[in-house]
This record gives sequence, structure tokens and C-alpha cells, in this order.
Amino acid sequence: MIPLIKQYRFNMPRSLLFGPGSADKLDEEIRQIGCDRVMLVIDKGIRHLPAIERIAQSLTEKGIDYVVYDGVDTEPTHVHLEEGTSLFRKNDRQMLVAVGGGSSIDAAKGIGILVTHGGDIADWEGRDRLTKRIPPLIAIPTTAGTGSEISRVSVINDLRRKLKFIINSTFLCPELAIEDPLLTVSMPPSVTASSGMDALTHAIEGYISKRPPNLGFGVESLTDVTAREAIRLIAGNLRKAWANGEDLEARSNMMLGQLLAAMTFSNSGTALVHGLARPLGAYFHVPHGLANAIMLPYGMEFTLQACPEKFKDVAMAFGEFVDDLPAERAACVAIDCVRRLCQDIQIPRLGEVVNREDLEQVIETMARDGYESGTPKVNPRLPTIEQMVDLYRKAL
Ligand SMILES: [Fe+2]
Repeated sequence: MIPLIKQYRFNMPRSLLFGPGSADKLDEEIRQIGCDRVMLVIDKGIRHLPAIERIAQSLTEKGIDYVVYDGVDTEPTHVHLEEGTSLFRKNDRQMLVAVGGGSSIDAAKGIGILVTHGGDIADWEGRDRLTKRIPPLIAIPTTAGTGSEISRVSVINDLRRKLKFIINSTFLCPELAIEDPLLTVSMPPSVTASSGMDALTHAIEGYISKRPPNLGFGVESLTDVTAREAIRLIAGNLRKAWANGEDLEARSNMMLGQLLAAMTFSNSGTALVHGLARPLGAYFHVPHGLANAIMLPYGMEFTLQACPEKFKDVAMAFGEFVDDLPAERAACVAIDCVRRLCQDIQIPRLGEVVNREDLEQVIETMARDGYESGTPKVNPRLPTIEQMVDLYRKAL
């Protein structure tokens, strides 16, 4: 007999602190973990923002011994990880605190891997290859989107191979995530837009992917619940947070929405759109969230026929009254909702951020890299390399 519910595991950080001002408790949390020699990994671009200075100053006042690594500018590369690892070792550190967007959090995870496992970071590419926990990691996001603070994934940009690769292991789940919406207030509108669309992509792709826990049937999985609520929160608040960064209610709702989206994709994975987005980052340095935002409506359009009921749920989470529509028509409404949101928060077309001739030079390699990255293989409609090429051209 086929079981109605399949078993699945749900990974989360050991603990999570949420709310405006929660980052002020960092020193207490470090002491609770039982460490007193810390390495802070901070995105280069935000090092001197008042909110970040305040965190560092408060650690000094509370007598926490810390060194700072702020070498990561856009995305972590093997060079950053080696620099960070030697700083960690030279200063005899015990734990990591990452403050910033996904880059600094992924960098801290990568440094943790090299500290505990050694070798070259590319040796650890893939799923479940790590053999032990990395040093304790507290992750404090300053954007509302990547979800790296609660995920078991680190994405590294390998400049030698010109590709972004994924290390996926339960040992990478941070010890603690501190979700403080006050830290997102200073995000400029363009970063609010791209990180918010990254989170929306996590929720939608996590909802439709063919990985466990989505493989069960007959009963909802935990990720179904987190995904729909994430979409509802992001759909209702991203425009407001983009238009007025000081709107703390919208910022808090976005923080919660991105957290639920991260809980979703961290457990059920992403799909085609992330596969299309990664090579845009590796070849043209398009920021991850922006690349997802650009490709999301095209990925949805391609996938629509395979799971129209799920896309109907997406339309409903956007607040559309589609109960009486057939699933295929309701699914089209979901895609319209995403397109309208992209327009309203000024997401550009692919042709505006990438030179067309340059794209044509590498378009097939990009499609192949994207396919091989794995996530398109769990898309409800399996794409070919040619179809992925086609999707890049449509997005121009
Ligand atoms: Fe993402």
C-alpha cells in the first residue's frame, strides 16, 4: 500500500530571536553559547552604517573579544574564504557572527567549513558531504531576502570555474538567527526590491519543487503552510517597504515573510528560476535577488501547465479572488500578479542589466551550468538546455 504521507525532516537553527531591537542582545547570546573569542564577518558595504557600528560598539562595551573580517564585497569566493579562515586561526577564534546580506552569512559558513574540514572549498561542493558541525554561528541578516540565516546552504562563487556552486549540509544550519527588522530600515529601495523578490522566489519555488517534503500527498506538508503565508506577507508588504523604507510595520512583515520563505526553501529546495539566476550572477555579476526577480515570471510561465493548482494558491495568497476560475486561468493571474509587482518596484528587464551580444556568447554554457546546478531537475516541468536558453532570450 502507498503511504499517504511520506516522512520528511524539517531543518531549522537551534534558536531564533525575532523583533525590532533584537540584535542588541547579541552579547548575551554569545555568552549563552559559551564562547568568548568571536570573529565577526560583515559585508564590506555596510561596515560603517550606524546600526552596524552600534552592534560592534556594544560588543566592545560588554567586553566581548572580537576580530572583524569584512573582505567580502559582493559574493564569497575561495579567496575571501581563505583570508577569513587564516584570520580565524591566527586569532584563535571559537565562533562566528555574520552580519549582512546572504554574502557575509554564506562566507561565514564557508570559513566554518575550512576551519573544521580543511582542503579547498570546492572539495565540499554538493549535498551532505560535510562530516561534522562548523563552529557555532550566529547569523544576523540586514536584508530581508536570502534566508541564509536559517538555511543549511552556502552558495560560493568559484571564479576559477566561473560558476556558483552550492554546499548543502545540515551542519551549516546556524546556531542562532537574529531577525531584527530595524537593521533593514537603511536598505536602499533597489536592495529592498531585489532581496524581497528573492524571498518571493524562495516561497514560490519551495511551494512547487519536487523535493521532500513536497513529495507527500493527501495531507499538507509544513512547507505548504510556510510558503503560502510567506507569499501573502511579501505580496502585501514589499511595495510599502520599497516605497518607504522607514515603514517599520512593512519591514517587520517582510522580515517575517522572508523568514517563512527561507523555512520553506531550506527544506523543500528551489527550482528552475534559481537555476537560471545563478549563472547570471557568475557571468555578469547580476545580484542574486535581481536575477531571480527578472527570471521569475518566465520560469512560472514555463512551469504553469505542470502544477496549475499550486499556482492558483499563489494567486489566492496574493489576495486575488480566483476561487471560481479554472486552475489554468487562476495560474495566469498569479503570473500577472508577479509581473505587476516587478513593474511597481522597478525591476528592470534582463536586456537592461546585461549586454545582449555578451549574453549570446555564453548563453548555452549558462543554461548548461544552470541545469547542472541541480535545482531545475526538481522543477515540476523538467526543462531542456534549449528551453532554458529560450527563457533567457524571452527575459531580454
Ligand atoms: Fe535565493
